[in-house]
Amino acid sequence: MVSFSFTGLMGLVASAVVSAAAVPSSPRFDLSKPSYDLFRSKPLHDDTVQQGFAFDNVNRRLFVAQRKNGADDTSGDLAITQLDFSGKELGHMYLKGFGHGVAFGAQADGSATYLWTEVDANTKGYGKQLARFKFTNGKTLTNSSSGIKKFKPVAAATEHTCTIDPVYNRLVVRYHLPDSGKHIAVYDLAKATKGDFSSPLANFKQPLPKTKGKNFQGYAAYGKYLYLLWGDSYDVSSTLNSEVASVDMNTGKLVQGPLITKAGSTLSFREPEGLAIYKTAAGQVRLFLGFASGKSGDRRSNLFYKNATV
Ligand SMILES: *[C@@H]1O[C@H](CO)[C@@H](O)[C@H](O)[C@H]1NC(C)=O
Repeated sequence: MVSFSFTGLMGLVASAVVSAAAVPSSPRFDLSKPSYDLFRSKPLHDDTVQQGFAFDNVNRRLFVAQRKNGADDTSGDLAITQLDFSGKELGHMYLKGFGHGVAFGAQADGSATYLWTEVDANTKGYGKQLARFKFTNGKTLTNSSSGIKKFKPVAAATEHTCTIDPVYNRLVVRYHLPDSGKHIAVYDLAKATKGDFSSPLANFKQPLPKTKGKNFQGYAAYGKYLYLLWGDSYDVSSTLNSEVASVDMNTGKLVQGPLITKAGSTLSFREPEGLAIYKTAAGQVRLFLGFASGKSGDRRSNLFYKNATV
């Protein structure tokens, strides 16, 4: 009897939590606090500006996306470089006809890493749906290669990208609806891996897809909060204009920002490119911010992080 009522009570508590359709509470990064260097000015496999980046937090690997050398803007051809945490290249892959690379995810499966990227580039070069495939050094995949699993989490969406919250194991999808623009949906990563997108923990319209005309440059999620990045290179904007913000994913409302970030302010060119979450072996969770630097034909990767939470 005792164990029966205990189970019943647990069931009630569990269903109350689920019926609130809430993303459980979590710490939040204080975006007003400083950023620290991971590395600066590291070459990637190809020479173009970096786009998004992702950590396989279990195998402690870092991957950075960029447009493949010589590829047209709308081809969706990407290079993925694997780097160690000092910024040294360890491997690469080419993905043809995938997308733009604003964000992607890296998921451990044993000692292998599976990447979650956009795929099936539309005429603007953005991926129509999501792909999951094993990172294999030196391999080139096209969007029709075998070994790619494709997912379309939101049937009506014409574009999908994603990022992984590696601490809470969630797949966070940014999707485009033709009549209402960019939205965010949050899924349990284990369910998404099985193709189950039936019960998002949150689903809302992205606030500020552009802020004051600046380009949208990346997103990442940690627990209850989504982080957004905007801005342009010094070539496009003569002043430092990169901004970050956080969003409560249960309400879809801004919590902090947009605030100017001066991370890597002395870099040349300095285009903000990508956000990602990583938890160190010692247990510190970091919000990483990426920037492209350097000259055309020899762009470099730069990663910084914030670690103060409230
Ligand atoms: C590859 O992407 C193109 C462009 O989106 C699409 O037309 C084509 O059907 C895709 N190929 C496969 C095998 O999915």
